[in-house]
Amino acid sequence: MPYRALISPSIGSGDILAAMTDSITIRKPFDSHLHLRRGSVLRAVTPYSAERFGHAIIMPNTEPPIDTLGTAIEYYGEIREAVPESAGGFDPLMTFYLTKNLTPAEIERGAVGAEGVRIYGVKSYPFGATTNSQWGYRNILEAKDVLKEMERLGMPLLLHGEVHLNDQDEEEDPYDGEKLFIADTLPRLLDTYSELKVSLEHMSTTEAIDFMEKNGKEGKLVATVTPHHLMYDRTQAFSGGYRALLHCKPLVKRREDRERLREMIKKGLPFVSAGTDSAPHPENKKFSSCCAFGVFNSPVAVEMYAQVFDEIGALDKLEDFLSANGPRFFGLEPDENKITLEKKDWQVTEAVVTDEGVNIWPVASARHGLGNETMRWRLRP
Ligand code: DOR
Ligand code: ZN
Repeated sequence: MPYRALISPSIGSGDILAAMTDSITIRKPFDSHLHLRRGSVLRAVTPYSAERFGHAIIMPNTEPPIDTLGTAIEYYGEIREAVPESAGGFDPLMTFYLTKNLTPAEIERGAVGAEGVRIYGVKSYPFGATTNSQWGYRNILEAKDVLKEMERLGMPLLLHGEVHLNDQDEEEDPYDGEKLFIADTLPRLLDTYSELKVSLEHMSTTEAIDFMEKNGKEGKLVATVTPHHLMYDRTQAFSGGYRALLHCKPLVKRREDRERLREMIKKGLPFVSAGTDSAPHPENKKFSSCCAFGVFNSPVAVEMYAQVFDEIGALDKLEDFLSANGPRFFGLEPDENKITLEKKDWQVTEAVVTDEGVNIWPVASARHGLGNETMRWRLRP
């Protein structure tokens, strides 16, 4: 199925005037956290990111995981092939998965881009916590040799910051996972590896925000924020039954947590950036009884961020958050291309369909009615 914009006719009155007066042009955004999968799903979803983002840090939790330079090179090639020419360039920035197979030698080869593809970070998943986390460590502090080498080379550690299992291997309350990680694991990690560059991914709780507001430091300890944790809270996740499209890790939390996230981005902190965590799953996995973790947001991600920044009166902070803070942490310049967003209502009415005919539903789908389904900003075509 060829790429098509999922734009329905605009609704409401006054749209034309709004589009003329409310628009914002920014450097092409940088996605600090993106899942593309492989094969037909990758081919279907990559164009939506490439249209909106110039670069993205690509998550390695594919099956099999990306934990050698060889697999990263192959994966890089597959993504590049799926980028349509019309996107005007999209560079996937590859990462390794912190599995037990990942060696310090591979980290070194990746850091220098030994075979033409560089590795920009190493992602840690707590064993059992989320999609394809079965290769993660139960306790990240066990990965001593790899962490030491990353610290030596300045290779960033990208953290899925949740405790999933306790010392007896019992599952923790999933609403407490991030809180426990912030209270215990993260401080120990930062104490032990004091020079390690760390990114706390997809912050979702007041505890994570408090920690970052106190300890965050440009180039050293940074954090990412998703559009869905800014837009939704758990009242929407449970409205009219449990909403599979919002089922993700970390879970969306209370309204207070969402409000604190909004207050934080309004401050324009240089160590906080956009990481969409767009995580597509085929319809049959998403709407199954054990619905897969992951919010697929790439067709609406930049638009949702713009809407939230507009709602909190902080559009002047949008470009740094979307386009400058992310690349700076990874030692890159912001993209030279630009995109324009305009204030114009629209809705996501269709699924993205793979070339095998499988539907992948974006969050905010009007069909699935999560609330907030009218998007207030859109990408200028
Ligand atoms: O909701 C999530 N989906 N959280 C993750 O950490 C992984 C992701 C995925 O890969 O589906
Ligand atoms: Zn993720």
